[in-house]
Amino acid sequence: MTGPGRHRFACAFALTAIGCGQDEQVNLHDPANALLGGETTVFDTTLHSFEHVASNASAQHKQYFSDGKSFATDNWVIPPSSTTGRDGLGPLYNARACDECHRANGRGRPPLGPEEPIAGLLFRLSVAGDPPTPEPTYGEQLQPYGNPGIPREALPVIDAQEASGSYPDGASYSLLTPSYAFESLGYGPMAANTLISPRVAPQLIGMGLLERIPEETLLGLEDPDDEDGDGISGRLRYVDYPDGSRSPGRFGWKGSQPSVREQTAAAFHEDIGVTTKLHPAANCTAAEAACSLALNGGEPELPDQYFDNVVTYASLIAVPARRDLDDASTSAGEKLFESSGCSSCHTPSLETGPSEDYPELGHQLIHPFTDLLLHEMGPELADERPEGNASGSEWRTPPLWGIGLLQTVSGHTRLLHDGRARSAEEAILWHGGEALTARQRFAALSAAERSALLAFLDSL
Ligand code: HEC
Ligand code: HEC
Repeated sequence: MTGPGRHRFACAFALTAIGCGQDEQVNLHDPANALLGGETTVFDTTLHSFEHVASNASAQHKQYFSDGKSFATDNWVIPPSSTTGRDGLGPLYNARACDECHRANGRGRPPLGPEEPIAGLLFRLSVAGDPPTPEPTYGEQLQPYGNPGIPREALPVIDAQEASGSYPDGASYSLLTPSYAFESLGYGPMAANTLISPRVAPQLIGMGLLERIPEETLLGLEDPDDEDGDGISGRLRYVDYPDGSRSPGRFGWKGSQPSVREQTAAAFHEDIGVTTKLHPAANCTAAEAACSLALNGGEPELPDQYFDNVVTYASLIAVPARRDLDDASTSAGEKLFESSGCSSCHTPSLETGPSEDYPELGHQLIHPFTDLLLHEMGPELADERPEGNASGSEWRTPPLWGIGLLQTVSGHTRLLHDGRARSAEEAILWHGGEALTARQRFAALSAAERSALLAFLDSL
């Protein structure tokens, strides 16, 4: 790489490592700087850019990271098998490895046609009620695949309607509205009032950093009664435990998991069908007898030490640095991001708190562009499926770091919880509810300003 961008890049990197020329110093407190993940940041713009360990990780954590990586990327096989240590797939499952959905730690997307097997998109289910309960036959998540002799739960069929709209300046756009049906139900009819929430797999960078943003910081960003009158409230998701305690929910599109550990255990359990110390029983409902009777691959199927390694892996995946810092268009776009009110939810800068287990993640100034809070996003994005204290129209602000590398890493730019948006521009045009004013401000910009704002997003 050559040119002025590279120069600034090298300098920002040097700041954390070997010092940097005075006149070229990058202000680390300016969100415009390159180090989105603080000292964990890596410098790679290739299709491997989401695969690195935090650049400041200790030698021991680097080892655990690479040990854990193989359990996240290699396919699990049907138990029992001579491939011990990898047998435990199913009986019912969505995918055979984390990597099938989060390919190269990037994004999943809806399948592009009926012939393409579904992987990076899954469906959560519940039956309406107070509180909502898991669908009695199919549980909380639909598993479209089963091991031999175990019928699949169903085959999701995805369709989309395209409709066009136009900006105030007359420029046109078009948006896809998805719809879903479940065919070949394996265990009889689904409850009539079943609520369905489609979710794509998000990119997996910087997870451990997000986990270490102090609860007080997040509470400080809340404005549940909109006292500042900007139309934006935001509240923290809380996850309740049986002993009466609770933790802030940070992960998943509605913030349903408080930690990388719990998210990872839930993924093994629900997505791959692998048991761990957190979820020791197979993921079968009472209606799925063949599933309950199937042989397993150990108790648990993923031994504790390896599970811990996968948690280390998922916690320490580095965030790549920002690019194109010297570009006039991206700097103009950054100001428009601020003035359009995007940063009211997509918080540019936060600091992580102390971190005993992973000191490399502690006290980092990071630029995740999320407040990790739930926001009411309007009826068009609503799944109408409440989850804990998140309503059917609330979503947790997703981090925007890495968004400009998705095309390179994942080969697509499908965005939003169900992957309906084909670009960042479409994602913005879907914003409603608390984000309606921001969307209207974006739409009212000139074409050149809109593309500057999009260029800024592309630099993240
Ligand atoms: C079937 C596809 C699929 C598989 C397999 C899968 N995930 Fe995910 N992952 C998702 C989806 C969908 C979400 C969002 C979940 C939600 O909204 O509750 C997610 C969310 C996450 C998150 C939180 C991301 C965020 O930004 O909040 C982490 C961390 C994660 N997965 C790790 C893993 C690990 C580790 C594995 C393997 C053990 C794995 N996933 C396997 C689909 C998958
Ligand atoms: C009220 C809070 C709020 C405001 C203001 C807001 N957003 Fe968002 N944004 C969200 C939430 C919540 C989502 C996820 C919605 C979903 O998936 O259904 C989101 C999703 C996105 C996405 C897709 C991210 C992904 O990972 O799929 C982009 C891009 C985005 N916002 C950019 C912007 C821009 C640019 C602005 C300003 C014009 C803006 N947002 C204003 C809350 C907000």
